[in-house]
Amino acid sequence: DIGRLAESMGLNAYLVGGVVRDILMQNTNMDIDIVVEGDAPALAKRFAAMKKAKVSEHFKFKTAVVIFRDGFRVDFATSRTEYYTNPASAPEVENASIRNDLYRRDFSINAMAVKLTGDDFGLLLDFFGGQKDIIDKKIRVLHSLSFVDDPSRCLRGVRFAVRYGFAVGPHTEKLLKHAVSLKLLERVVGQRMYLELKYILSEDSYVDALLMMKKYDMLKFFHEKLAIDDFKLDRFAVLKKINGWYSFQFEDKLELWISRFCILFADLNRQEMKRLASRFEITGRLYDELADTFYKFKHAVWQVRRLKDVKASAITGIFEGMKTEAVTAAVAVLGQEYEWLLKEYLTVYRFVTPSVDGNDLKSMGIPPSGIYGEILKEIKRAKLDHEISSKEEELDLAER
Ligand code: CTP
Repeated sequence: DIGRLAESMGLNAYLVGGVVRDILMQNTNMDIDIVVEGDAPALAKRFAAMKKAKVSEHFKFKTAVVIFRDGFRVDFATSRTEYYTNPASAPEVENASIRNDLYRRDFSINAMAVKLTGDDFGLLLDFFGGQKDIIDKKIRVLHSLSFVDDPSRCLRGVRFAVRYGFAVGPHTEKLLKHAVSLKLLERVVGQRMYLELKYILSEDSYVDALLMMKKYDMLKFFHEKLAIDDFKLDRFAVLKKINGWYSFQFEDKLELWISRFCILFADLNRQEMKRLASRFEITGRLYDELADTFYKFKHAVWQVRRLKDVKASAITGIFEGMKTEAVTAAVAVLGQEYEWLLKEYLTVYRFVTPSVDGNDLKSMGIPPSGIYGEILKEIKRAKLDHEISSKEEELDLAER
């Protein structure tokens, strides 16, 4: 549809980037990127109207995104160089605009396009050997200044390498090491560093990515104290087991990167976490949420370690009000011997509530003078610790 619409507007349009890579590798990819030789927002608006979807335009960058009701997105960008409109121009010249656009991209596997318009609809444009690199399993930049143009590509390179089990090509590796020694990553804005770390920690093979970042000495760009040692690797292994159990047991999807983030930075104290957050330039609600999750995680580890008597009520008191991601991270740090506790908490304890309610207490003649909360809390505690089990016993306890 996009191709036909573009044609009717006299434009050339291409499918580009990650989606082309993933089609060739037979992976699924939910992000569609379109490059248009011409007015991309105009095409996006027509497409959105046709599909009854929403469109939002970025005037400065001549881009637009079409968002469908179910969240599906199609990004439209105007190709970054002038399109040669001379009708007598040779095909190579006609391709110059999209070729230049692709040349500015990060890696050969991400720099391919599929033509959506014209007689050669469906034609794969692969100017820089992307297909060969997919076959050879190689991450390769297109030119020597790629990491200088955008140092966050050092992190992207790691992410794609571990995701697909590709090796970094020898020349690319040299450039990568050079970029690290020049500390180019220090120039990357905080939000981008934060997002790249979040993406890396969202990968299934994030541990390999962290090890690769360690190998290339990139971890220090997040925090000078950041280290990956055997202890941490063990914690990640426990987390993996816990998450395997969780996804088998429950339907909801955890934001796995959050637990991984907590474990990764578990050694940082408050001051250091604040510094990390300021490096990431995260403020406001985002900061509050992340910091809250992290501090609760650290506090829970500390509290559980201090428990003399590991009672259900004590555990529930500690874990209640925490994000599940923080609870699983805390248990992974505490160690395998605490796994049963987590399972009990997640399957049983957290659902325990008193059977009696305020109305019961009222009909018993207890005046509602602000002690209902206290009574119900004590009933819940006794119930969790199996001191009482029936509603009668709860009422007895309330009376006492
Ligand atoms: N790109 C780039 N340099 C960057 C970021 C992006 O050249 N620093 C280009 C690449 O061509 C990439 C495309 O923009 O394929 C889209 O970027 P993004 O959506 O971040 O990545 P995807 O390749 O779609 O990867 P993912 O599967 O992780 O979404």
